[in-house]
Parts: sequence; structure tokens; C-alpha cells
Amino acid sequence: MKELVAVLDFGSQYAQLIARRIRELGVYSEIVHHGVTRDELIEMNPKALILSGGPASVLDPEHPTMDERILDLNVPIFGICYGMQLLALLLSGTVDKGRSGEYGPARLDVADDTSIFNGLAQQLDVWMSHGDHVTIVPDGYKMLAQTATCSVASMGNDTKKIYGVQFHPEVVHTLQGMDMLRNFLYRVAGCRGGWTMTKFIEESIERIRSQVADSNVICALSGGVDSAVVAALIDRAIGDRMKAVFVDNGLLRAREVDDIQSMFTDDYPLHITIVDAKKEFLEALQGVTDPEEKRKIIGETFIRIFQAETKDINHADFLAQGTLYPDVIESRSAHGGPSAMIKSHHNVGGLPEDLQFALIEPLKELFKDEVRILGKELGLPEKLLKRKPFPGPGLAVRIIGDVTEESLEVLRHADSVVKEEILKYEHFEDVWQAFAVLLPVKTVGVMGDERTYANVIAIRIVSSLDGMTADWMRLPHDVLTRMSSRIINEVHGVNRVVYDISSKPPSTIEWE
Ligand code: XMP
Repeated sequence: MKELVAVLDFGSQYAQLIARRIRELGVYSEIVHHGVTRDELIEMNPKALILSGGPASVLDPEHPTMDERILDLNVPIFGICYGMQLLALLLSGTVDKGRSGEYGPARLDVADDTSIFNGLAQQLDVWMSHGDHVTIVPDGYKMLAQTATCSVASMGNDTKKIYGVQFHPEVVHTLQGMDMLRNFLYRVAGCRGGWTMTKFIEESIERIRSQVADSNVICALSGGVDSAVVAALIDRAIGDRMKAVFVDNGLLRAREVDDIQSMFTDDYPLHITIVDAKKEFLEALQGVTDPEEKRKIIGETFIRIFQAETKDINHADFLAQGTLYPDVIESRSAHGGPSAMIKSHHNVGGLPEDLQFALIEPLKELFKDEVRILGKELGLPEKLLKRKPFPGPGLAVRIIGDVTEESLEVLRHADSVVKEEILKYEHFEDVWQAFAVLLPVKTVGVMGDERTYANVIAIRIVSSLDGMTADWMRLPHDVLTRMSSRIINEVHGVNRVVYDISSKPPSTIEWE
């Protein structure tokens, strides 16, 4: 019988990440709304339940909750962050507002290693992101671990097989997070495992064929991994009924159009249409400084161009794009659910009302590293699969303030220096993204004997597995020194360079 683990979504940015971690551990997993009833769950027959985190506070009278009778089903439960606080509250423990929140890395002291911490060290590195915390565990529960500022960082009841952790085991920065989830799935819940993603390609191709029927499809190509994987999938499904369109929006990095053209000519031959729309985008963005407005305008302009591209082909009712799960979750909440909107990633949040296309988004459930695995199976070249992510709205969200030809020129030049230098870094494969940001301030400097009053460039270099969380990279000082001095010497109009040392959360990777 098929094993299923249900993730109850309380609006976490990480609900899908939890589901996917479980799939990685070889057990099929699905997300369900936190309002699922006891009977609906019995119907699903899950082997275990995970309660996700969420942005609400259990101390708020309106907080999202769950059908309490689920706790009596004898199904093992693992509550994460908000999920643990809710368990504590429902089981008559005590939850308090913390004096200050705890965000980022923390050192965990394990007090009981017989269940979820089995086989792990006594001290572990975990990732926290919470305000409230459990102060008194419910009757019959043990405190399993704590940190310097959180007296109950984990609790559990071995008889009921109900556990909770205050930190996030699903993010890579909790170094032994997978071991904890594995312990829960296999030791506590008795899962057998064995699920793989090998059927994903076949299933997707079948789904695309039946969705499209005899229509044509416009495929929005960005030059990145995601849209290339989508194009390869659709190419396999319907061949030349797909028109792959790459838009030169003027917000691209140096040499980008040439790179794309040569990649789809030499490395993975695919007919692509390149549209020069530099003028349209710059005009539409004139005077716009609000990040969300920029994103919406760019999304809309893209769609107008794709609509125009249908003119020379017989009906194209579909637009295919490489939307990934992080784009969806950060643009709107899962299932219209309660998670907070962070920013409108252009291929999701920025779509106009009158889209005139049905969307095909075969990667909507997946994360970047899953997409790279898929791309490899589809035969896409390493060179393409290794391309670093680049946001749809391009350099526009890295120019804080007005986007003009001049600001684009400055940023493009600074960005190419960052790129050239990071390519020489010996641990380049650990870099998720490395780029420059143009700040809307000028500062005083001195060059030769002259006073200067010029722009500031921020360098952002992060490591990440999936873009959902990230850490700023501790680069050797000589790498940073070379970037800084080259930018100041070579890029006209810049006299200062700063390095961004914020992690995600609480910051995001892009500045807008
Ligand atoms: P944030 O800034 O949300 O970025 O922490 C997470 C990852 O997503 C990329 N990103 C985008 N990708 N369209 C995209 O296709 C977008 O609108 C967009 N905004 C951010 C970002 O570069 C990072 O890798």
C-alpha cells in the first residue's frame, strides 16, 4: 500500500520544502490545508503527520488551528515551529511571547536522544525563526532539547509518538535536519520508504499532451535552468507546436543575449525566437521606484510581448513558464492559504488580469535542485544546468530606485566584474548567486587629489540549496578586495563598494 505523509500547512514559507524533504527521504508526501477534518485525514490514511510553521501567533485569538480530534488518531505527529507551539497549546502546555525573537543560527543542546535526535551529537547547529516559544511542556511530555534563549526547543511523548521542534529541520542550515526527519519517519512512524522521482518526466509529458490537445504553446525562455527544462519537456511532448521565445528586455547582464543564442545553437539545439523589447521595458519603467510596482510592470510587459508573438502562429492558447515552488510560495500563499506575501516573482505575481493564455507550469511543485536533476535526465548540457539563477525582472530589481539606461550601464559593468572574479574563486560551486546591486545613495570619496561624490555598489554573494533560505558567503578577503578595487577603478561613477552580510531570512536574496 502507498505510504503517505501529510503536511498540514499553517501558512509556512517552508511547507513545500518539508514535503519535498520527505520525498527526498523516500516517502511520498502531500500538503493539506490545516483545516482538514479528522474524517478527511482518515480517508487519506497517512502514515504520519507534520504540522508546518506559520506566520501567525498561537496567542492571537484568531490563530489558525486544527481539528483537535486528529491528535487522538494514533498517527505519529511532528510539529515544527508554529506546529510545535500549537501542539503545546492544544495539549495544555504553555506558550509565551518571547522577549525578543530568535532568527538565524542557534546552538542546540540535546537532552534526550532516544527518538528524533537518535544517533546525533549532543550539540547541534539549528536554524531558528520565531517570536513565541513553549515555556511549559504539556503533561506527559519531555523537554528533548534547548538553546541558550529557548528553554524548550524540542519536546515529545514517546508513547503517543508526538514530537515538536522550535527550529526548522527542513532548511539546510539545520545541519542534521534530515537526520531528525529520517528518525521521525523511519524510527518513530515506521515508514518503509522506496519512493523515487523517476516517473516525473513521463507523467509530466502525458499531462502536457492532454492539457494542450492540438493547440500551440508559447514557451517563455529566460535562459535559465527552469525555463530550459520546461522547453525540453514540452519539446518532447509536442515538438514543433511549441514556440520558444526569449525576450531581450534591456534588463539583462552583459553578453547575455549572445550566450543564450550560442547555447541553444551549439549546446542544446532548439529553435528560439529572440524579441528585442528593450525600448518597451525602459519606457514602462520610467520613474518607477516601488519594487512591487516594478515587478508588476515587468510581468505585464512580458505578457504583452508573448501575446504579440502568437500573431504568426495558429491559435496558441497556452503559455509555458518555468515557475518553481519558491516563486509560487513567495508570491502568494499555498492553496490561497495563510502564508505571507513576500514579493511578486514576475512569472507568478506579475500576471495581468487579462492574460489570454492558460498556463503550463510543469515545475510548480519543484525546487531548483530538483529541477537540475530533472534537466540532467532530459539531457540538457551541464553548462546550462550550472547557470546561476537570475530573476525574471532582471537588473531592475537590483537598481534600488529609478531604472535608467545610465544606471543599467553602471550596474551591468559592476556586475560583470563580480562575475569575472567569482569565477576564479576556488569554491565557486558553493556559490548560489553572486551579483552587484546599485544603491540610490552617493557618498564622498577621494580619487587622486580630487573629491568625488559618486554611487555605491553592494555586492551580494550567497550560498543556498533552493533559494528559500540563504547565507552570505564568508569569502576570502583577497577575492573581495579584487572585486572592490576593480569596480572602483573600472566602473565610472562608483567610489564605494560594500558587502552584504545578511542571511535569508530575515533578508531576501534580491534587494527588491
Ligand atoms: P528572493 O529575493 O525572493 O530570491 O530571496 C530567491 C531566489 O529567486 C530569484 N528571484 C526570482 N526569480 N523571478 C524569478 O524567476 C522573479 O521575479 C524573482 N525574484 C527573485 C532570486 O534571484 C533568488 O535566486
